[in-house]
Amino acid sequence: MCGIVGYVGHRPAYPYLIEGLKKLEYRGYDSAGIALHFGNALKVVKKAGKVAALEELTAVIEQGSPIGIGHTRWATHGIPSDNNAHPHTSQSGKLVLVHNGIIENYAALKEELLKKGYTFHSDTDSEVLLNFIEDIQQNNNCALEEAIRIALKRVSGAYVILLLSEEYPQTIFAARKGSPLVIGIGQGEHFLGSDASPMLGYTKEVVYINDYELAIIKPDELILKNLGNERLTPFVQQLDMELASIEKGGYEHFMLKEIYDQPAAIYDSLRGRLDAQQGQITLSGVDSIKDKLMAARRIIIVACGTSWHAGLLGEYLIEELCRVNVEVEYASEFRYRNPVIDEHDVIIALSQSGETADTLVALENAKTQGATIFGIVNVVGSSIARLSDAGAYTHAGPEIGVASTKAFTAQLTVLQLFALKLAQMKGTLDKTVAQELMQELALVPEKVQHILDTQLENIKKIASTYKDARDFLYLGRGYNFPIALEGALKLKEVSYIHAEGYPAAEMKHGPIALVDEHLPVVFVATKDRVHEKIISNMQEIKSRRGKLIAVVSEDDQTASSLSDDCIFIPQAHEIVAPLLSVIPLQLLSYYIGVERGSDVDKPRNLAKSVTVE
Ligand code: F6R
Repeated sequence: MCGIVGYVGHRPAYPYLIEGLKKLEYRGYDSAGIALHFGNALKVVKKAGKVAALEELTAVIEQGSPIGIGHTRWATHGIPSDNNAHPHTSQSGKLVLVHNGIIENYAALKEELLKKGYTFHSDTDSEVLLNFIEDIQQNNNCALEEAIRIALKRVSGAYVILLLSEEYPQTIFAARKGSPLVIGIGQGEHFLGSDASPMLGYTKEVVYINDYELAIIKPDELILKNLGNERLTPFVQQLDMELASIEKGGYEHFMLKEIYDQPAAIYDSLRGRLDAQQGQITLSGVDSIKDKLMAARRIIIVACGTSWHAGLLGEYLIEELCRVNVEVEYASEFRYRNPVIDEHDVIIALSQSGETADTLVALENAKTQGATIFGIVNVVGSSIARLSDAGAYTHAGPEIGVASTKAFTAQLTVLQLFALKLAQMKGTLDKTVAQELMQELALVPEKVQHILDTQLENIKKIASTYKDARDFLYLGRGYNFPIALEGALKLKEVSYIHAEGYPAAEMKHGPIALVDEHLPVVFVATKDRVHEKIISNMQEIKSRRGKLIAVVSEDDQTASSLSDDCIFIPQAHEIVAPLLSVIPLQLLSYYIGVERGSDVDKPRNLAKSVTVE
């Protein structure tokens, strides 16, 4: 986690740094800071709280320097405080550093440095790394670049670091392992960021730095080396992102904008890939690993959080349509539990950011054991995208709200396409049924729009009725079970109300004990093959006086008459229905969060890109 920015060039660095930090706040927002180089002195300003607090503090400082670095933090080592905020300053005062990631062997390094008389002003692993670099430079009497290389060979963990040195008034030193770093190339200037969003509007040419690379960045020179001190040629790519896509566009919050983006995001994820008329799916990534997929004895889906919920739906879909065994794994468990993997396995990696540390390492491990990786990723050029053997991007556009919404529905869309394509390749799906499903899929964007157009006021009213509840239960069966999980997660994240998702029938094996007249129970009960069963589950809750809120198909009298409050969505085939039923749950969470006064775009304790394990 944590967002980092840097600038070196011919204009004042400060505006780029402060605006860039605001764009990267989704990565962490418990403290922030900047360092500017004034030729012979380094000036550091940092503060606990969001970037806005830093901005107030920096309003009065000298801002004219053309070189600087900045950081917005998601605490790992040490509470959010002024001292633990980055940049950190070395013992001599001659180096400053910002760091994103975790130095796992920091305790041993700190021990070494303490014995040598170093003192520390923060509880962070980052300050240890900085002093470790300084110590190496002083002891070996070597150039800073060399000291960084030696230090990085000795640390374990993940990092992106940016360093300024009093000695080098025109240079930023940067290195990466496991956390992302992008360098934008301008005319006589360079822009650095954890992702490319800060540099939109400045440049379209970017270089994604790889693991174990060190960059020495001056206004008109970018030197790239590996840790063995060999020069590398930077691979310059064109940035495919527009400024408007990372702005709120008149909405009060990014989360609401992104919920409303969904008809377009789903359409964009289908565009050029789905030809419902001809009954054809084009996914070149699937074609490129066709042999592996056809021979695969099983498919393993690896993800975290909301992406894991999409993965669970992927399991239902792929098993049903393609008749192949699918397992869904939490990346954090998968990476440590020594799973049996070999070259016959195909792994689907699901990730919005493409940088989630647990997912990334789980994939690296699986790849080492011979598995083929298919990435379904939103951020183009991200680490997971680059690690994958093949893949299909979700075209959701940048997702800024910390709680994932449009990235989730875009993931579901790509999983639908993947399952249909594989089913066609394997011949496991009747041609007419396949075409019918494709036609259903093509209709999803307009059905999502219909929900947004017709249900908003109703959902706002429901949010207002239940906003003070202490707990919520979300229930669904079959394809709607992962949606119940996702609805509960969304509510927890943005309203801080405790919520649990459960398979509707499983509820009677325990959670039913929670039900009384104070418990709102959200049923995802669209018409499908288990509809009658879920109606019985609704009866069971009703007879225990639970409050029933139900997401139901438009013509469903039975479910609606049972419910205290109802949200209607258009009828759809049960396989595509989750793409619709999740929309009201996102809106419900959003409005409950807003009513309760939460910062829905940046809920407490969370970060968008979880690059620590
Ligand atoms: C929840 C949410 C998280 C992410 C999870 C994985 O709203 O956004 O649960 O889904 O951290 O992130 P990605 O998809 O970037 O790997």
